[in-house]
Amino acid sequence: ASEASFENLAQRFQHLPLIDRYPNCFPDINPVDVYRAHITSILHDITGVDRSIIYPALQWTATLEKGDLMLAIPALRVKGKPDELGKQWLEKWPDSPLVEKPVQNGAFLPFFFKPAPLTKTVIPMALSHRFDFGTNSTVGLRDQNDLSKGKKRMLVEFSSPNIAKPFHAGHLRSTIIGGFLSNLYKSAGWDVVAINYLGDWGKQYGVLALGFEKYGNEVDLERDPINHLFQVYVKISKDVADEKEQAEKMKAEARKYFKKMTEGDDEALALWRRFRQFSIKRYKETYARLNIHFDEYSGESKVSEDDMHKAADKMKEMGLAEDHEGALLIDFVKNVPGKEGKQLGKAILRKKDGTALYLTRDISELLNRAERYKFDHMIYVIASEQDLHVKQFFKVVGMMGHQDIAAKCQHINFGLVLGMSTRKGTVKFLDDILRDVGDHMHETMKKNEDKYKQVENPAKTADILGISSVMVQDMLGKRINNYKFDLQRMTSFEGDTGPYLQYAHARLCSITRKAGLTEENLTSADLSLLTEPMAIDLVRVVGQWPDVVQNTLKTLEPTTILGYLFKMTHVLSTSYGHLRIVGSEHEVMKARMALYDAARVVLYNGMKLLGLSPLERM
Ligand code: ARG
Repeated sequence: ASEASFENLAQRFQHLPLIDRYPNCFPDINPVDVYRAHITSILHDITGVDRSIIYPALQWTATLEKGDLMLAIPALRVKGKPDELGKQWLEKWPDSPLVEKPVQNGAFLPFFFKPAPLTKTVIPMALSHRFDFGTNSTVGLRDQNDLSKGKKRMLVEFSSPNIAKPFHAGHLRSTIIGGFLSNLYKSAGWDVVAINYLGDWGKQYGVLALGFEKYGNEVDLERDPINHLFQVYVKISKDVADEKEQAEKMKAEARKYFKKMTEGDDEALALWRRFRQFSIKRYKETYARLNIHFDEYSGESKVSEDDMHKAADKMKEMGLAEDHEGALLIDFVKNVPGKEGKQLGKAILRKKDGTALYLTRDISELLNRAERYKFDHMIYVIASEQDLHVKQFFKVVGMMGHQDIAAKCQHINFGLVLGMSTRKGTVKFLDDILRDVGDHMHETMKKNEDKYKQVENPAKTADILGISSVMVQDMLGKRINNYKFDLQRMTSFEGDTGPYLQYAHARLCSITRKAGLTEENLTSADLSLLTEPMAIDLVRVVGQWPDVVQNTLKTLEPTTILGYLFKMTHVLSTSYGHLRIVGSEHEVMKARMALYDAARVVLYNGMKLLGLSPLERM
């Protein structure tokens, strides 16, 4: 009987214009939304409170024991004591095919979904949607009811290393977080443009060119451009510092060289262009290992001097910037009222010698992107060390009369990685780090001879495990927190680590291989056989996945996804002892395998969203 009424209910949902009634309610792809809508109806009938107040008040729970959803009674804004209100409401609680009657817990009503209909919704949904389970192609549409109006456009600027300087931890974090955000918005139906804004301009490239004449060579430039250019830069900088008499001469020469570059001198630009191209080529290889792709390699060099002067002049005309000993300065304290102005302080837009600066470039580049891409939103993934810089250039763009554009920009910041340089204090490049961690994983793998023999490409597997170690460690906490780079901890198979997550996925793959069932076996499985508490808990967690992704669009934290995936792997690891496959009766085996398959789909999709490469064997 309960099944029949569930089907009725599901049908009713299809005919109700639910999306109009509840923004962001997607019952056909998010099981939790079915329950939100259903509980909202019940509560509305009982309390008379407006549905639009009830719906968003149905909250997540931290753990399964606390229920699947919960309501803080005061959130409905009904006069009275929560204790008594809850009691009154529960007296009128109707029989529901979908949720158990709640047992009040102080000011909260916890809701538990009834297992049978949940199982029959969640597993078929996961198995039929598969790689799309958790994606929602309509969130990023300009008009959710009219596909022809197109997708909203999101620009994500991230990674942005500097040529001839080390790719440091800040760039690594920006890369990992930016890659994740690009995936997240794509999965939500946005048109995402990934931009790498290289540090590729400035008088240091004059220095570098001189250095290359003295210390550089073509072979090394092609073989290992990033290291080579860095070494050249270190050597020539040392010369400048050591040879006091020569220093002024060299500096002048470098300045002259860079000046030629800014004037568009072909010869001067040719060398620089090759530095840039070779570096990008090398970076692309590393990005590919991290499953990252950029649509555009922009950079500070691409910002036109002309545009910058125009922007600076405009600020001056508007009376917002002033001359100060030949330089052009903006005093936010004077121009922006209150605390904000004080925080922003002062900034230089143009130096005495007429050269523009990092800040001015960002201002011009932002305005250019607005013109070129007509974006709906833009995210900058930059370390929190640059919080002030970002606030300043957003503010200036707003002050220039582009408040609308500034309002579409968002800074996603993050904390530091501690202890990533080597013992000698010398810099380490990203490739070196990834190699070290990969080697470490390779050694660990060799310790289990039997397993090792079965892995098809051990070096590649070790590399993926190493990369997963680094990425998972990075995404485990909130972005803003600092963390310590800890090789031992991140490569461990115990605790919430990359190798553990990979292991959980590989184990599900191994169970699938051993069971050897067909797709038909799984779709025809009798899901009512899944009655064990462990099975039900696993279904409950799997069913949260699309909702977790929706929630991540609010938090924009990788840890929202990662924390959920670890929660699921913990439920999985306890379930294996209770829900055996091998040796079970055939029908039971089919039902359990359908459940494990749904869990594997979610784990796979989650890992892909984070930018990881899920392993099938290890
Ligand atoms: N290249 C800069 C650095 O390494 C980061 C660039 C960040 N993006 C920006 N639009 N300012 O510090």
